[in-house]
Amino acid sequence: MVHSYSKNANHNMRRPVVKEEIVRFMRERQQQPAGFLAELEVFARQENIPIIPHETVAYFRLLMQMLQPKNILEIGTAIGFSALLMANNAKEANITTIDRNPEMIALAKENFAKYDKRGQITLLEGEAAELLMHLESYYDFVFMDSAKSKYIVFLPEILKHMPVGGVVVLDDIFQGGDVARPILEVRRGQRTIYRGLQRLFDATLDNPALTASLVPLGDGLLILRKNKEEVMLPEN
Ligand SMILES: C[S@@+](CC[C@H](N)C(=O)[O-])C[C@H]1O[C@@H](n2cnc3c(N)ncnc32)[C@H](O)[C@@H]1O
Repeated sequence: MVHSYSKNANHNMRRPVVKEEIVRFMRERQQQPAGFLAELEVFARQENIPIIPHETVAYFRLLMQMLQPKNILEIGTAIGFSALLMANNAKEANITTIDRNPEMIALAKENFAKYDKRGQITLLEGEAAELLMHLESYYDFVFMDSAKSKYIVFLPEILKHMPVGGVVVLDDIFQGGDVARPILEVRRGQRTIYRGLQRLFDATLDNPALTASLVPLGDGLLILRKNKEEVMLPEN
């Protein structure tokens, strides 16, 4: 029994931003994970652990196979499902993944020991804000799947560690649709996230040094391509 996530956690994952029947269709008709990935997916759903939903799994499979990144950074490991999915579909990639939750870290370690057969994955334990200050590599693909209010805080450091042409995917950026509403209509407890996400959109969507696309999969993906060596983002 996992203690980190209650049945009521991850409220926004239960508010699809696309019509429910389309979400169901995407979840049922796209190729299901097989083997250990299927087992991990079932375990995560049973324990309310917020791994990427099935429609995002299908998209990531395609993205990895198309881009074949060599050096991936992930912020938000949880049980290691998305890291193992990426490893499975980009077999030449080295993957560094970060998490701070001891319960998730223990499960991820178990899963990597069993299923990371090519030794592609390195788990960094701790607060991302801290660990990002000490990155030494360059990453051609970055997946941000952690606290959403912090995306705008982490992004400048991440972009410094990416080559031109590198891609960042940020997960869960629609806040179950709240981002499209005025702040006063958003629950008080959700407003810090709302403000962080609005700052993220302001900084990226029209930035000439980036190509940005909002993709309505799960609770929404923001995909960024770094187009210039220097990317100016507004001061935090
Ligand atoms: C949505 S889950 C990641 C799911 C995983 N990417 C998957 O799809 O299989 C988010 C994880 O990010 C971690 N996290 C959130 N904020 C973080 C931070 N500032 N530093 C490190 N880890 C963080 C949480 O502990 C949690 O395990």
